[in-house]
Amino acid sequence: MSANQPVRVAIIGLGFGAEFIPIYQNYPGVEMYAICRRDQKGLDEAGDKYGIPARYTDYHELLKDPKIDAVHINSPIPDHGWMSVAALKAGKHVACTVPMGTSVEECRAIVEAQRASGKVYMMMETVVYSREYLYVKELYDKGVLGRLQFLRGSHMQDMDGWPSYWPGLPPMWYATHCVSPCLAILSEPGKPALAESVVCHGSGKIRDDLVRHYGSPFAIESATFKIKGSDVVAEVTRSLFDTARQYRESFDAYGSKASFEWQLAEHQKPLIHTKSSEAHPIPEPEIAKETEVPDYARLLPEGIQRFTMPAAIQDAEHLSFLQGGGHGGSHPHLVNAFLQAVQGKKPAFPDAPTSANWTMVGICAHESAMKGGDRVTIPNF
Ligand SMILES: NC(=O)c1ccc[n+]([C@@H]2O[C@H](COP(=O)([O-])OP(=O)(O)OC[C@H]3O[C@@H](n4cnc5c(N)ncnc54)[C@H](O)[C@@H]3O)[C@@H](O)[C@H]2O)c1
Repeated sequence: MSANQPVRVAIIGLGFGAEFIPIYQNYPGVEMYAICRRDQKGLDEAGDKYGIPARYTDYHELLKDPKIDAVHINSPIPDHGWMSVAALKAGKHVACTVPMGTSVEECRAIVEAQRASGKVYMMMETVVYSREYLYVKELYDKGVLGRLQFLRGSHMQDMDGWPSYWPGLPPMWYATHCVSPCLAILSEPGKPALAESVVCHGSGKIRDDLVRHYGSPFAIESATFKIKGSDVVAEVTRSLFDTARQYRESFDAYGSKASFEWQLAEHQKPLIHTKSSEAHPIPEPEIAKETEVPDYARLLPEGIQRFTMPAAIQDAEHLSFLQGGGHGGSHPHLVNAFLQAVQGKKPAFPDAPTSANWTMVGICAHESAMKGGDRVTIPNF
């Protein structure tokens, strides 16, 4: 691929994955070249709708296509690991939806394959490119929050009725949405904050017909994890089945000067709590104030700015988009970050070792819960 040639992208998996097609199509210097799904009819429908020339029902055949520079994987969770490794070994850049994998071994294999190939690997974590996260990060970087004292994430979702790989999934195997903001906010360019150990408790019990799939009995898993080189501890909570709760993917950041707290229910607004002091006393009722979260489309190339808004998303009816609150307008930011990494303008964030760390917090948390809350050290690659 020379500097003047377009980056040719292939998207694998066209459920959630289809939401990204028009974003790549509107990105300068990119050719949205190929798509892949197993079902020929669905493949052709998407190919005709978006005018995409190269179509594959077999992923291995797609990887043999020398024209493809980069793959964006949106397949079912059990396929993320092997598909990422195969693509890196075939010399392709890889963007993959969350989680990176479902075991420490899979994460390790991807990090090793990425290093051996020298290609880009980026886990496409929506939360750290959502407008809410970008807002809190901006407040922290500008000093508004002061010193960070504690971080909390939660992701509660009712997955009854979702595809076959979801029933009974250990909640913490899909924890990156609540883990990632806690680590990203403490990261600096080239110096990612990494989790070093985790303690997790499992609570309650899901239906027996769900437990048999993965042998994971808990309705809720709740973990605290230590961050390397920091005195800040983060807490994350996950549920997937048999718990009554509206969808919530939240992030709270408690600082010495101000704190950000996610809204309790959709259609409410988040709160900023400001510390009262002798010099600047604040009456108790005014300590907590609702805040308006701005959009960050201005950070993007003009052609894809509109995709931060749900109205511009082609497949805004997809369940993940509806339940996920539009993922905070993150999709075009993710595409931009990945392509900037492929074009050598900026390192991927999260890169392979960071993606592994974010994913393994959850994997090790589930291990801890299964051991009754023993502390588990997170492997360091
Ligand atoms: N906020 C987020 O980051 C977010 C939101 C939604 C979904 N996701 C992730 O995206 C992935 C897909 O979710 P979904 O709801 O679209 O799932 P889905 O099961 O509806 O769709 C999966 C797609 O992958 C294709 N596929 C399956 N196996 C394949 C194979 N071997 N080769 C080629 N294609 C194959 C299917 O044909 C289908 O198009 C999941 O892993 C999920 O975790 C992430």
